[in-house]
Amino acid sequence: MINLKGNFENDINYLSNIIKQLRVDSEMRQEYFAQARRIRDQIYGPQVFFRGLIEISNFCARDCYYCGIRNSKKNVSRYRLTDEQILACCEIGYDIGYKTFVLQGGEDPYFSISDYIRIVSLIHSRWPDSAITLSLGEMEDCDYEQLFTAGATRYLLRHETADPRHYSKLHPEDQTLSNRLRCLESLKTIGYQTGAGMMIGTPYQTTQNLAADLLYLANFQPHMVGIGPFMPASGTPFTDKTAGDLIDTLIMLALTRILVPAVLMPATTALGSLDTEGRRLGLLAGANVLMPNLSPPDHRHDYLLYDGKIQANDDAKANHKLMDQIVKDAGMTVSSSRGDSAIWTYH
Ligand code: 5AD
Repeated sequence: MINLKGNFENDINYLSNIIKQLRVDSEMRQEYFAQARRIRDQIYGPQVFFRGLIEISNFCARDCYYCGIRNSKKNVSRYRLTDEQILACCEIGYDIGYKTFVLQGGEDPYFSISDYIRIVSLIHSRWPDSAITLSLGEMEDCDYEQLFTAGATRYLLRHETADPRHYSKLHPEDQTLSNRLRCLESLKTIGYQTGAGMMIGTPYQTTQNLAADLLYLANFQPHMVGIGPFMPASGTPFTDKTAGDLIDTLIMLALTRILVPAVLMPATTALGSLDTEGRRLGLLAGANVLMPNLSPPDHRHDYLLYDGKIQANDDAKANHKLMDQIVKDAGMTVSSSRGDSAIWTYH
């Protein structure tokens, strides 16, 4: 259904045209969504993998213009979880049946690499059959290597946008796309299941930018891709900008599934925050991951990357039931496996 020729300019125009057609032609869109589901189901079956998300710190040294926990944002009640708090979150998730823990946080200068290594080692030794995913931002290669050795096997680092000029409109000068992509290359080389991804509808984003994202993903073939709508966050330079579009997000999910067939792809919290049906529609467009929040309830409202983030129920079990219903409503089943990438081997 999509035939890339390997010529950058031509492929960008070709993909842009497909996106534009899909926006206006709902019948064609349904065909693409159906194909995305077929590809997903051929590889993984109609199964959804759950990842327990633990937001370990909202301190961040970075100042991304879109982000609600950016360094210079005032009125953020900053917190950092202790080892005991993190382990308690894992325990709750493990008891429900989650086999993946995602440790996500801002680039918190108070956490040293040895802190991260200690935390990963603690989780790995206590729940050796579970996968540990990290989402802690840009680091040096040697840090990524040590964390891999400690037992983390997956790393999420969205590339945010594959166009360097667009990247520079979303980030301060000291943050570069080239370093972001260097990190992603390193993670893959080290042996992590590597996750890239982007927001849909960020300020100044063009259809050509979206096409460039797809081309980057098609070439890089990450194991995971996180795609969600941009949502404005108060107290940031983008507070007055418009949120990303639901249909655009679904189109990008489907096209990503078609171009990166074995991708593990969440129907994101941002998609669920944009629209009450968002996550179910995301699964119907080719996603196959859900990320229930396991963060301590008393800190959840402090990890607001954007306004209007749906707040998971305090009770992780009740929350699981709601997610279970989304899966059923999408005609899928919940997987009880770790849900490693079909194209990944541990080495
Ligand atoms: N809207 C939507 N997604 C956001 N993220 C950060 N800020 C926002 C926002 N305002 C996403 C980024 C980041 C991920 C952890 O959350 O893509 O990589």
